[in-house]
Amino acid sequence: MADVQTTAAAAPQVTRREDYTPPAWRVPEIALEFELDPARTVVRSRMEVERAGPGPLRLDHGRQEIVAVRVDGAPAEYRDEGGKLVLDLPRDSHVIETECVVVPEANTELMGLYASGGMLCTQCEAEGFRRITPFPDRPDVLSRYSVKMTADKTRFPVLLANGDRFGSGDLPDGRHWAEWRDPFFKPCYLFALVAGDLKANRDHFTTMSGRQVELGIWVREADLPKTAHAMQALKDSMAWDERTYGREYDLDVFNIVAVADFNFGAMENKGLNIFNSRYILADPETATDADYDAIAAVVAHEYFHNWSGNRVTCRDWFQLSLKEGLTVFRDQSFSADHGSAAVERINQVRMLRASQFQEDAGPLAHPVRPDSYIEIGNFYTATVYNKGAELIRMMATMLGPERYRRGTDLYFERHDGQAVTCDDFVKAMEDGGGIDLSQFRLWYSQAGTPKVKATVRQDGRDAIVSLEQTVPPTPGQSDKKPMPIPLRMAMFGGGTGSVQGEERLVVLDEARADVRFEGVGERPVLSINRGFSAPIIVESDRGAADLALLSAHDDDPFARYEALQQLMLDTLIARVEAGVADFAPVLDAVRLTVENPALDKAFIAEAVLPPSEAFIGDRMASVDPEAVHQAREALRAELGRLLEGQWRAAYLGSASNRFELTPPAKGARRLRSIALGFLMAGGAEDAPALAWDQFQGATNMTDRQGALTVLVSSDAPQREDAIAAFYARHKDDALVLDKWFTTQALSTRADALDQVLKLAQHPDFTLTNPNRARSLVGAFSANQRGFHSGEGEGYRFLADNILALDAINPQTAAKFVAPLGRWRRFGETRGALMRAELERIVAKPGLSKDVFEQASKSLA
Ligand code: PHE
Ligand code: ZN
Repeated sequence: MADVQTTAAAAPQVTRREDYTPPAWRVPEIALEFELDPARTVVRSRMEVERAGPGPLRLDHGRQEIVAVRVDGAPAEYRDEGGKLVLDLPRDSHVIETECVVVPEANTELMGLYASGGMLCTQCEAEGFRRITPFPDRPDVLSRYSVKMTADKTRFPVLLANGDRFGSGDLPDGRHWAEWRDPFFKPCYLFALVAGDLKANRDHFTTMSGRQVELGIWVREADLPKTAHAMQALKDSMAWDERTYGREYDLDVFNIVAVADFNFGAMENKGLNIFNSRYILADPETATDADYDAIAAVVAHEYFHNWSGNRVTCRDWFQLSLKEGLTVFRDQSFSADHGSAAVERINQVRMLRASQFQEDAGPLAHPVRPDSYIEIGNFYTATVYNKGAELIRMMATMLGPERYRRGTDLYFERHDGQAVTCDDFVKAMEDGGGIDLSQFRLWYSQAGTPKVKATVRQDGRDAIVSLEQTVPPTPGQSDKKPMPIPLRMAMFGGGTGSVQGEERLVVLDEARADVRFEGVGERPVLSINRGFSAPIIVESDRGAADLALLSAHDDDPFARYEALQQLMLDTLIARVEAGVADFAPVLDAVRLTVENPALDKAFIAEAVLPPSEAFIGDRMASVDPEAVHQAREALRAELGRLLEGQWRAAYLGSASNRFELTPPAKGARRLRSIALGFLMAGGAEDAPALAWDQFQGATNMTDRQGALTVLVSSDAPQREDAIAAFYARHKDDALVLDKWFTTQALSTRADALDQVLKLAQHPDFTLTNPNRARSLVGAFSANQRGFHSGEGEGYRFLADNILALDAINPQTAAKFVAPLGRWRRFGETRGALMRAELERIVAKPGLSKDVFEQASKSLA
């Protein structure tokens, strides 16, 4: 059930950033007692409250049964005002006690206290704590917690909460208890407890000041062998944060628990992180290289939150990017330091473009620091997270490493123990780093992806680059001011292909500006936004020859990748729009890239992969998904056919019979599957057999899923067998079965839609587990050809699932709405069908405010 049931008729309440007022009451101390039982959990709370301003004490609550409320020991009068329990209190400090009953096993929304796979756990961010016990559920109320739990000892032998264990013992009738205390003041969204039959992978870490920290990763016993990678990542993260930011861990214990049912990736509860099991469990048989990398990144992310999020937290939820943007930037830097920095950056940008650029270009566009929301759960977005991380990166680029570090040191020192704003972070960067960021603040308030047009002309021996920026209008923001855009630029000679002078950092802070490169002497070829120094779209007048030259010579790996991508993109768009295009320059550039012995395999694999169908569509005024698909397949077929020898060499040269997780081994596996894809696309006669052999003989999930992916999108006779064999082998492993659904949902074949409709009827498909729902419904809506094929059956399928899921888990249901909101981009016929589904969703009686917000905004 949704927390607040609403309909389109009764428009739900909007919360605005400008309405922020500090809390009238502080809650410095809270003691909680849980009598844990999946069917009926009793929650008692004892709060010491102190007046901080005028007005009554307002406690948010969910729909739990409230048994008793006492003030200073005596039963109290209270009133209920729109989801708040209101108490008029005469003095400046009081003791408030409440007693409630909640039903974890009936909690399908996975917010508050819920049951997952036989254990009990909590999820409180953003506003889940109120569903457990009445409390001022806002991040600027910081308290010290003590938590006592009692539970059946056989079913729940392990009882965990935030902080350090204070005591434990046995009770009569098979029950036991444990008490935990967290010495740090924290907002209630960081509260957590877990009860279950769990086993720990235990280890320890010695901090830079010599303190011993006990580490535990808690899972079901059978999963223990799959926790080694996450543990290593945790220790690496702890060491990295000391080295890179001077941040040390602060409790004696750090626990992580993996749960199967989870709305997000993971949660940074103080000293007790709770993870979606997909970001903990890995072994070579069941996890791909990408999974291993994602696990390390998410473990690092949650660990880093201990400082960027927990020690310094958000004043209100509009400041969410304060912790998320910074923490994503920190986990991205960690990943870059532990693998190939170039490939890491390529993947970050690919992800940013696929999710954030799309968001910024549509009806759900919002600033990194939003101005209003109906449901805060809808603002855990690529804009707040990934664009937010790009903002931190730009500041770090402009400051340089030393001054950036001085800025972060000042930030953590100045605000330790406080709940602060994005502006406080920027101020610390200014004061610590010695820079004026007044204009930079626009990045927090203006939505939309800036476009920079760059044209180059020769002026004697010099080259002049003319830059012109525009920021497109977005909902509620029609007029934009110019932003400061840090552009790393270099000039190459069109004859020699060598770099002319040094790379420069130019901050474009006006609508237009000219930049002079002196003494170029040759035809100038511009390398711009190197390393993707700003989250913008560059439009340049560079033709195929210039892009080919950069793809062969640029010494910035990202810019080199980007040049080949741009060349492919221009070629594909020409093919879609004009029906014909010269593939020869792409062919030559790809050949030079594959044959270049100086490039590592991981880089080659990413560079030669043509832009996705969705990305091609994003760059077109109106998308014909079928035409985009055909153009991309034509290019893949031609590359496959004409470079068959190169792909074959790459395929054979990347084989290995030992499984290793080193960057070169991962790069080889990646290139092998990409080469296989090209051989299949080019129609090599033995390609289906190669794919089948790779599938059958695989010693790891990367190779197996790589082969399956190629087969699933092909007409190979082995296709059906591979799908059946994968199912038979992995049907009992939920995380691998998710891959089975996803691989088929992403098929580029014409029958993907039919297959997905069938898979939705499969006995293993369910909407109650968010990972499974995402594996089919979420994945399919990102399959541009499949989703838009037919007469709108894909749209109907998505809307049906959103409505069905809304009754179970509105927060996750709302995450599925955005693809329908792209209706303006797919022509009139498709647009009308997509709109009709949004209208059907909005009209549904009893719709949650989560889905209402996303669907109604998508129609506007
Ligand atoms: N704060 C979590 C993170 O980014 C994400 C999250 C949000 C998890 C809301 C659960 C609920 O690490
Ligand atoms: Zn986070």
